[in-house]
Amino acid sequence: MSTPLNTPENLTAKPGKIMLVGLGPGSNDHLTARARAAIAEADTIIGYVTYIRLVADLVAGKEVIKKSMTEELDRAIEALERARQGKKVALISSGDAGVYGMAGPTFEVLFQAGWTPDSAIEVEIVPGASALNTCAALVGAPLTHDFCAISLSDLLTPWPTIARRLDAVAYADFVVALYNPKSGRRTQQIVEAQRLFLRHRDPQTPVAIVKSGYRPKQRIELTTLEKMNEAEIGMLSTVLIGNSNTFIQHGLMVTPRGYANKYAVEDGERNTHAGEQAGRSLSTGLNGWMAAIQQSGRSAAELAAEYRLPEDYIAAVLQAELPAEDEAACE
Ligand SMILES: C[S@@+](CC[C@H](N)C(=O)[O-])C[C@H]1O[C@@H](n2cnc3c(N)ncnc32)[C@H](O)[C@@H]1O
Repeated sequence: MSTPLNTPENLTAKPGKIMLVGLGPGSNDHLTARARAAIAEADTIIGYVTYIRLVADLVAGKEVIKKSMTEELDRAIEALERARQGKKVALISSGDAGVYGMAGPTFEVLFQAGWTPDSAIEVEIVPGASALNTCAALVGAPLTHDFCAISLSDLLTPWPTIARRLDAVAYADFVVALYNPKSGRRTQQIVEAQRLFLRHRDPQTPVAIVKSGYRPKQRIELTTLEKMNEAEIGMLSTVLIGNSNTFIQHGLMVTPRGYANKYAVEDGERNTHAGEQAGRSLSTGLNGWMAAIQQSGRSAAELAAEYRLPEDYIAAVLQAELPAEDEAACE
């Protein structure tokens, strides 16, 4: 019989360690030095079978506990039990353990068992490059402006929640990384995602689909929002949808950082546009924009429609005192 999980004194009897290790995309070259050392240090390795296979050469001679995809809580409980026996346990995730990975479920199990950061069992999170970083690196520079990640898995999240987030980010013009876009059983979610995006975005918006990035079966496809569902998408794919400025050139997907808003390159010289200053907010930055709308004499309703912002927010800005000019840009 296993020890009850909710007995805090049991947690301090024999100190062990739980390491939540992000493996990165799955190639040895992209496994961090700390992740490699954490696996070497561990007595027990726990993970989804595919992830164990990715580090097969590093786990020889160790206790290896393979779990299926849906057994996340079991993996965390097993890790806690082993740590209570004084063992060092590496719970491995692909990418980063904190991005749709084992870190959250493990803390939930630990807290339920009465664990606190002062308990004898140490917990270390070893970060890894997440699919959005690695897939982006394979296709160019699609994440150089504001972006977000949305998982299309409705195994634990209701569809209306996912759909509301898709709609909001499509409207707000984020670059989006779609995780868990499709599986054998979940084939319609990506179709619905496309439908929601097409309500707000140009059908020609660039899309990159990276399957098994940095693994032997890597496959990269550059396409458009309109055609993305003609591409091969599966459980091991990440779908990157650009924003309204993202472009594809020479086979690379790039989202501009915004330099063209401030500078023009003429005859090899970089010059600021009229009204703009290096190191200062744009003339359409917060201060400039506030001053402009306050001087415009236009109604909150008109301005709200033009800027696609809530009317009560515009009304508040029209009443607000202008803030002091910021001194320096961050980069
Ligand atoms: C359960 S999530 C795990 C995410 C992981 N913790 C991370 O930070 O990348 C699984 C999803 O990650 C994405 N993914 C993970 N590894 C990938 C890779 N090598 N290439 C492309 N997508 C990957 C896919 O969208 C897949 O459906």
